[in-house]
Amino acid sequence: MSQPTDVLAGNQTIERQIANFVAVQVLRWMDTAGIVDTMDAGKETVLWAIPHPDRIIIAVNPIAVRAPTAFLRHSSRTEQVLSSVLQGRRVSISAGKGFFIQIAYFTEDTVDLESKPLDLAAQKTPLHVPIGVMPRGALWRALPKMQHVLIGGAPGTGKTNFTHTWIQALLRGESARLVLFDGKDGLEYGMYAGAPRTQVVEGNDLTQTLELLAIEMTTRFEDLKRAGVRNVDQYNAGRGGAAQMERVILFVDELSDALASDEVLQRLLPILRKGRAVGIHCVLATQRPSADVVPGEIKGLCPTRIAFAVPDAASSRVILDRSGAERLPANAPGRLIFLAGAAAVIAHAYAAPEFTRDPEWKDAVLPDDSLSAEESEYLSIAVWRLAGQWRAEEIAEILRAEDTRTSGAAGSGRAYAVNKNRVALAAQRLERVGYLTPILTESGTGRRLGRKLTDKATARLGVGAGMGVAAE
Ligand SMILES: Nc1ncnc2c1ncn2[C@@H]1O[C@H](COP(=O)(O)OP(=O)(O)O)[C@@H](O)[C@H]1O
Ligand SMILES: [Mg+2]
Repeated sequence: MSQPTDVLAGNQTIERQIANFVAVQVLRWMDTAGIVDTMDAGKETVLWAIPHPDRIIIAVNPIAVRAPTAFLRHSSRTEQVLSSVLQGRRVSISAGKGFFIQIAYFTEDTVDLESKPLDLAAQKTPLHVPIGVMPRGALWRALPKMQHVLIGGAPGTGKTNFTHTWIQALLRGESARLVLFDGKDGLEYGMYAGAPRTQVVEGNDLTQTLELLAIEMTTRFEDLKRAGVRNVDQYNAGRGGAAQMERVILFVDELSDALASDEVLQRLLPILRKGRAVGIHCVLATQRPSADVVPGEIKGLCPTRIAFAVPDAASSRVILDRSGAERLPANAPGRLIFLAGAAAVIAHAYAAPEFTRDPEWKDAVLPDDSLSAEESEYLSIAVWRLAGQWRAEEIAEILRAEDTRTSGAAGSGRAYAVNKNRVALAAQRLERVGYLTPILTESGTGRRLGRKLTDKATARLGVGAGMGVAAE
């Protein structure tokens, strides 16, 4: 007689026994609940149990599944019931190319899970970021491996704190460049302004930042092509220090604010599609995990998902493609489900340390060093329309032409009319704080050549070295 359940690949007897026991329980329940039909399956094996060190994966024979759609529709309830049949073990069901049930051996010892202060010294590589504390210890991951990350959770569940732990780890790593957008005009991320390799996006509009990132992406692809390689890892292999293509990590805290403008989505998608090959990664957080805020296209391009507590299973599915996050305690901010590939784990995020500026950054943190929206606008035009040359008249010209198209300065959101003098005035301050060179003159003739953007300006604008800026 063939067996209805079969345990595969278990080397140790105890694992086989546990797996077998669990498989029998699962089969019994699914048969009673009418999810599988053991009669129809005849002599076929219904379940295969594959023991792993920390869990059992059960593959269900599709022949035995009564109604595939019902299998999925009831998955959340099945998870709950099986979890209680198995005395609180975590159960998660997935169906794609086959039907799978994962069961943790250990009960979730969430009593042990609590917030701990982040110890940055635990960072293994400059690009490792902390996920949190798990029952069996700390969990960190290399950011590039996670590609792009989608974070969702109800307000107050710990998303922003979590992103701070990542930002601080990456700052400590001194390797990645950070582009930070909090949709609250710097309220959350303003404290990082002036940190090395860090750009805090001013205002509530990401469009311009994404535009520059897109330009950088294009240049990076050209660099790969010239070097005859396909991605940033191959490019960096054998290159040291400044010759390396640095990772750029874009943080967006509150995707719904960012996506308020349609243009942002249109510019974000190509970066999600192609960015990781050239080392540009996105970390996108939202407190409104609903399909309208997180379009399917964005979700599909973020292989790593992190869910904090959400109000219902539907919201959980928006983030994780499965239920579960609705069962996280809402009164324990930081509790999260981390999903990468098929593995889902529960962890508790670290509490971000009080952020203090590194004294070595003091040169970069002069109080008036920050750029106003107006100044950023002028500098951006100089970078990508004028090849890094600061020409007041032309900058004013370009903006006036734009204003005409958008029916006046008010239509462009500007409270002032741009003119050459206004731009020239801005130039004086920009020179004082190191974003523009003094007016240069041609040696010999004394002819005025005008100003150029400094490296500090291009770095602040998120433009890679040497790009779009005319060489001396
Ligand atoms: N991992 C954590 N450990 C302890 N407290 C936390 C943790 N994450 C968040 N908190 C606290 O919970 C509150 C809300 O956190 P926040 O990150 O602002 O949530 P969200 O961005 O999801 O609205 C804050 O007071 C924060 O200090
Ligand atoms: Mg927040």
